Amino acid sequence: MEWPVTALSPSEKYNLITDCVVPRPIAWVTSTNANGSINIAPFSYFNIVSSEPLIVSLSVNRRQDQSGLNEQKDTAQNLLNGGDCVIHIPSHDHAPAVHATGSSTPPNQAQIDALGLMFAASQAVKTPRIENCAVALEGRLMQHIEVGQPIAADLLLIEIVHIYAADDLLHNGRVHPEPYAINANKRP
Ligand SMILES: Cc1cc2nc3c(=O)[nH]c(=O)nc-3n(C[C@H](O)[C@H](O)[C@H](O)COP(=O)(O)O)c2cc1C
Repeated sequence: MEWPVTALSPSEKYNLITDCVVPRPIAWVTSTNANGSINIAPFSYFNIVSSEPLIVSLSVNRRQDQSGLNEQKDTAQNLLNGGDCVIHIPSHDHAPAVHATGSSTPPNQAQIDALGLMFAASQAVKTPRIENCAVALEGRLMQHIEVGQPIAADLLLIEIVHIYAADDLLHNGRVHPEPYAINANKRP
């Protein structure tokens, strides 16, 4: 089968590219809203850019506001407003909470409480990390690229300044590649 991209609708392009480019890691990102509350959202357009310096990329698509105008998502706004973030690698049993925090109507504080998410202080940034996540990368915005005309996405290059990995994931000084399959609730 062949698909000339010019003949595809937006939803066909989305389905094809996200079906073909798998697996994609999920960045489950906490950032701090202007009112000081903690924002959580998942992003699968996420990867490593460089290890020296330590940079990851996060592509945050624009969304339509109620009047149909394209606006930045909260995670992008929070980082562009000078805030920092923590990028978590969720475990399989976080999947329901990951999906709940990725809906177009993000959960309020009561719903976050109902998801059982607890926060722990980060070491190098102000935004807290999600407790019970195997891996948490503390980061600050390094570079912002507006993608597309009209702008379709905010590509954020984030410098990682501190790395947390749960002790039980360490074997011979390396983080074992299975944390993503580990049931967080069964870990010590
Ligand atoms: C598994 C999953 C992956 C997602 N990946 C992305 C992504 O890569 N880019 C994006 O813009 N939105 C992505 N979304 C949608 C955002 O998480 C969603 O728009 C969220 O409400 C944004 O929250 P914010 O406004 O607090 O930043 C994803 C959602 C889910 C459930």
